[in-house]
Amino acid sequence: MSDLLTLEGVSRRFGGLLAVDNVDLSVGRGEIVGLIGPNGAGKTTLVNVITGVYRPSAGTITYDGRRIDGMKTFRISRMGVARTFQTVQPFPAMTARENVMAPATFAGKSQGIAEARERAEEALEFVGLGDARDALASELTLAGRKRLELAKSLAMEPKVLLLDEVNAGLNSTEIDEALDLIRKVADSGVTIIIIEHLMKVVMSLCSRIVVLHHGGKIAEGTPDEVRNDRSVIEAYLGNRYASRSAGEASDG
Ligand SMILES: Nc1ncnc2c1ncn2[C@@H]1O[C@H](COP(=O)(O)OP(=O)(O)OP(=O)(O)O)[C@@H](O)[C@H]1O
Ligand SMILES: [Mg+2]
Repeated sequence: MSDLLTLEGVSRRFGGLLAVDNVDLSVGRGEIVGLIGPNGAGKTTLVNVITGVYRPSAGTITYDGRRIDGMKTFRISRMGVARTFQTVQPFPAMTARENVMAPATFAGKSQGIAEARERAEEALEFVGLGDARDALASELTLAGRKRLELAKSLAMEPKVLLLDEVNAGLNSTEIDEALDLIRKVADSGVTIIIIEHLMKVVMSLCSRIVVLHHGGKIAEGTPDEVRNDRSVIEAYLGNRYASRSAGEASDG
């Protein structure tokens, strides 16, 4: 399998904090790779570095044979790298279709409004929101808004899609539906990197899982290998005890 995305020695520093620490990562075409780790491990930061929101402080990122580290976000997304946001923020007073038309246009492949509308409708249909296309985003349930977020990224016709906790806050029926949808996206030929706290989801979707802790990669392997990895177990236990002693709710 030839690699679509390769990170070598990627770090990102925020002042004194090394949020991403010397991470190597290879993602093959058509793979579904899980990215897990306790709260604050650096998962979202890594997505932000891959998509050009932040420049890496060190390291190189190669996508489809080209260096993309240091490129602007819009160039990277036009090359086919799309992402969803951990906190979904649709424009509440715009319809579902209008929300999806914005990125469809931004992707730069649309010839005009009519084509962007068509692409938006296709994406909404694909995620099961075809009937809700004229609904205001504010009228959608959380599960609906998560689907809308997915439709926005699909309207950019990505080759690789980074999903940042698309299932957070959903009930178990909604999660099963979301799993089917993510599989459908993968079957359509999109390579997927999925950040997910729910083990059930990563374990069932991913052929390979990468574990971050304090910014660094502490393990990588099949779901079974990762589940039984001592450093992974310790990272999660440590985090849970730390959260409890700080009086915070467990992240489940
Ligand atoms: N823009 C920023 N400026 C300063 N620190 C940041 C910034 N973004 C993230 N961080 C810090 O970097 C670390 C990693 O954060 P990040 O959001 O990447 O973690 P995460 O693995 O996505 O966590 P979660 O599971 O809670 O979403 C945290 O300590 C966070 O506070
Ligand atoms: Mg995060």
